[in-house]
Amino acid sequence: MALDVVILAAGKGTRMKSSLPKVLHKLAGKPMVEHIIESALALDAQTVNVVYGHGAQLLQDALSAHDVNWCLQSQQLGTGHAVKQALPYLNDAHDVLIVVGDAPLISTQTLQRLIDTRKHADFALLTVHLDDPTGMGRIVRGNSGRQGGNGGDNITAIVEHKDATDEQLNITEINTGMMLMSVVDLKRWLSQLTNQNAQGEYYLTDVIAMAAGEGKTIKAAHPVWAREVEGVNNRVQLASLERAYQMRHAEQLMTQGASIADPSRIDVRGQLSIGEDVSIDVNCVFEGEVSLGNNVSIGPNCVLKDCAIGDDTTIEPFSMIVQAQVGPACTVGPYARLRPGTDMRAGAKVGNFCEIKKAVIGEGSKVNHLTYIGDAQIGKGVNIGAGTITCNYDGVNKFQTVIEDNVFVGSNSSLVAPVNIGAGATVGAGSTITKDISAEDLSVARAKQRNISGWQKPTKPA
Ligand code: UD1
Ligand code: CA
Repeated sequence: MALDVVILAAGKGTRMKSSLPKVLHKLAGKPMVEHIIESALALDAQTVNVVYGHGAQLLQDALSAHDVNWCLQSQQLGTGHAVKQALPYLNDAHDVLIVVGDAPLISTQTLQRLIDTRKHADFALLTVHLDDPTGMGRIVRGNSGRQGGNGGDNITAIVEHKDATDEQLNITEINTGMMLMSVVDLKRWLSQLTNQNAQGEYYLTDVIAMAAGEGKTIKAAHPVWAREVEGVNNRVQLASLERAYQMRHAEQLMTQGASIADPSRIDVRGQLSIGEDVSIDVNCVFEGEVSLGNNVSIGPNCVLKDCAIGDDTTIEPFSMIVQAQVGPACTVGPYARLRPGTDMRAGAKVGNFCEIKKAVIGEGSKVNHLTYIGDAQIGKGVNIGAGTITCNYDGVNKFQTVIEDNVFVGSNSSLVAPVNIGAGATVGAGSTITKDISAEDLSVARAKQRNISGWQKPTKPA
């Protein structure tokens, strides 16, 4: 059965105390609603419809990468009213999956369980048992007299906490807000909704009693992991789900062969793929797409974003690597910063307090201390002395520095681009190089040292 998805995301999220719509608050570096959209898109749905009420522009900007249909609910009159806003976009020949927008961990596998359950029932409802069901809609089971067969186990209604009797408040099976049915049924039921209840809202949950009343079979499915259906109402709950997500992710990485010094102190905000025998020390953050080869070791407090690290490479503590390529058997840091376009070849080293941008560091070359290399091409076996700077910028334009194989650059040199240093050349320490240097030459470009004997030190006035 073809599928349309409706995500309910129009609630204001008052308790977030934020100018940002609740569903745009991030979990693992991604807006909550984007996690849900991705889980839904992986189901092969025909349409994904997001019901929104606040921050239209913010939502559309944040989620522009996804093909979703936006449905405005200008007044939040309840979950049933919210779903109504999406009805014009649903196909009468399809099923519709309804998902709440503030349960960011909902997985494709769990949503798939609803789809599988629907194969044997008219209505599939995702429920869980909670030790403390306070505030949640309770699943009422009993014999409606029309379903037959299951004794008193049939789902007959959902009753909201505020409308429940004392007896119903004891029910621990609750509505997660996720459900699946045919579009035609949903349309019929929604047209009959009223707001005669404790909250004066149009409850989506009233459709369950309507379905039961029509003798429809209603079956419950349960999530793969209970925390998937947990909703976020405030930042405390968001942080708690973030940790749950990160801990589970860390466990997956360890299962794949990574050693993680402390699984409660790692954050993966994107895709981290790893080889064997990777080790990750505490407080590392991985963003975007990061891949770590075999035997990669990451020291404490590193940030890696959209980068690939080759086999046997060591990233020392406090390093930051963004949109960079690091080859095998390299060493980076401690305290190194590799900016976009850095390409370190096999065995290269970038040491402490070095910044590299848009530059190739050739095989076995060393940039070990206090250096800035930008817009540069460095060959093999090059040694860049401490404090060397490529002066790549004249205030308007950027220029290239080319340093060929086996060059030795003395400490504290300024290489004013555009400039080319030929293979095997040597630059004397403290030089300011403004002209090309031929292969194997020595270039010294600094004021000559004068030693003045008999120099009188200044004296203080009496
Ligand atoms: C709802 C369910 C409850 C269930 C709980 C699970 C109803 C009446 N109740 O209660 O049975 O246990 O979810 O979390 O459905 N929304 C809109 N427009 C609205 C109202 C809500 O888009 O007018 C969206 C919210 O943004 C949210 C979702 O619907 O993503 C659920 O709304 P919320 O107000 O949190 O419902 P609950 O009272 O928690
Ligand atoms: Ca809620």
